[in-house]
Amino acid sequence: MRDNFRLLAVAALVTSVTIVAGCGKKTEETGSDSGTVPLPSAATMGEQVVLTAEEYLETEPFAGANRRRGEKQAQICKACHSLNDGGPNMIGPALHGFFGTEVGSRGGFEYSAVMRNADFVWTPEALNAWLAQPGRFLPGNRMTFAGVLKQEDRDDLIAYLLAATTAPPSD
Ligand code: HEC
Repeated sequence: MRDNFRLLAVAALVTSVTIVAGCGKKTEETGSDSGTVPLPSAATMGEQVVLTAEEYLETEPFAGANRRRGEKQAQICKACHSLNDGGPNMIGPALHGFFGTEVGSRGGFEYSAVMRNADFVWTPEALNAWLAQPGRFLPGNRMTFAGVLKQEDRDDLIAYLLAATTAPPSD
């Protein structure tokens, strides 16, 4: 009995060491630009309040964000994602209408197991944490993208995405 207990304690220790090693130093540097509130991860999103894209765009920081700058930043996303209504899955899943939907739920796209099994809704808060550092937010995902370092840049990008992925077809 005692031996079993010790074994368990060792296993727990090894696990926590692995987790610390896995997170690495970068997490602390980029967790949040202001250095105040640490960003959540996919596993710590908890209860989510979901508004419409329109409502988010009426609230800060998105109301005052620079969507034109955001559009420029989105060029890199467009290498792998379509944003327009009816756009196809590419290297990454089609993103039109993804705000307010469950992660990993776009039809016809083959997600990694971690993304398929994750359980949260795409709110600007979730997207902000994902885009800051995808590998920290959802370890083991397949999106080859290092992240957008600055909070201001992410606000601009998210404001643009809120508008672009909910826009009606252009023709
Ligand atoms: C090199 C290609 C690539 C680039 C660049 C890229 N993505 Fe991705 N993205 C992917 C792939 C692949 C996945 C699916 C990952 C998985 O299954 O683990 C993904 C997943 C996502 C998801 C999850 C969608 C869902 O259905 O749950 C979002 C949101 C997303 N990307 C947003 C972005 C944004 C915003 C940018 C630009 C800042 C971006 N991505 C840049 C390839 C890319």
